[in-house]
Amino acid sequence: MTDQSELDRLEAEFTTAIGDALDEATLEDVRIAALGKKGRVSELMKGLGKMTPEERKEMGPKLNGLKDRLNEALAARKSALKEAALEARLATEKVDVTLPVRDSALEQGRIHPLSQVYDEVIAIFADMGFAVEQGPDIETDRYNFTALNFPEGHPAREMHDTFYFEPGEDGSRLLLRTHTSPVQARTMEAGKPPFRFVAPGRTYRCDSDQTHTPQFHQIEGLVIDEETHMGHLKWTLEEFLRAFFEVEGVELRFRPSFFPFTEPSMEVDVRCARLGNEIRIGEGDDWLEILGCGMVHPNVLKNCGVDPEKYQGFAFGMGIDRIAMLKYGIPDLRAFFESDLRWLRHYGFAALDVPTLAGGLSS
Ligand code: PHE
Repeated sequence: MTDQSELDRLEAEFTTAIGDALDEATLEDVRIAALGKKGRVSELMKGLGKMTPEERKEMGPKLNGLKDRLNEALAARKSALKEAALEARLATEKVDVTLPVRDSALEQGRIHPLSQVYDEVIAIFADMGFAVEQGPDIETDRYNFTALNFPEGHPAREMHDTFYFEPGEDGSRLLLRTHTSPVQARTMEAGKPPFRFVAPGRTYRCDSDQTHTPQFHQIEGLVIDEETHMGHLKWTLEEFLRAFFEVEGVELRFRPSFFPFTEPSMEVDVRCARLGNEIRIGEGDDWLEILGCGMVHPNVLKNCGVDPEKYQGFAFGMGIDRIAMLKYGIPDLRAFFESDLRWLRHYGFAALDVPTLAGGLSS
């Protein structure tokens, strides 16, 4: 027979252990220690069989009462632990639906203004039926100069501030193309007239200041057919510049100039207003040089296997960086190549806004 004080101590001990259990696994251990097969309360209950009927009558209800109270305490603690675990999970997993939606990477990324202008220019010329051609950045003297009617030793070669490679065994030097015009020669040589294409790409000259970088971009245009004349050239450039600057009243001025590969040669200025740091295209009474062009020299056609008695046409070349600066009011060309994220966020374009004539070039 166990006396009352011992039962009380047992009850107090388990009640405390139940209250102290901080998770369900510990609580289960307490239950087993008290009420499991070999638990302390269970052992006491096994002892009932050996008691006299009187003793059993007294101890039976006491032990059953103890067992019931411990079971109750266990159940209460278990549901309290469950609730606390849920509370804790809710607290960490809570979502504040009032927070603004964060931009995804696609929306944060920016298209470089040069890539944007590249795409705009190609979209406009593609709409006019021009193909896109390409050539290598590393060129031979022949394609960069000789085929384009630059005579050997002609001062025009010096005008280009060419980057040359070390001479090869035969003494010839490769170079970084100084303009996109070699693509004229390569494409004509490889194909058959008529030709109508633009050739955008990288170009290089040994030059660096606010409006010149050693590497820059040009877009070449070439149209060769049997009756292509200067009126076509003028119309093409006007149409292009109107579409590109998204200004109806673009006005051009053709000034006589010199390029070995065109005759006559012209430089084209656009009417603009200069207001402090700002340049507005299509208004005011200032002029800004924007591209070079002309009628393809018969020698160039001959050099590239095209019969100048039958075919004629025009060519033009334009600085992509330059027209990008003008259109988007970017004052310093060097910033294009500095990879400054703050600059890119300011001047860049949203990745999903692909320029098309129908959908808008730059909006
Ligand atoms: N290639 C010339 C330059 O870089 C531009 C040009 C191209 C001029 C085609 C006339 C015709 O300056």
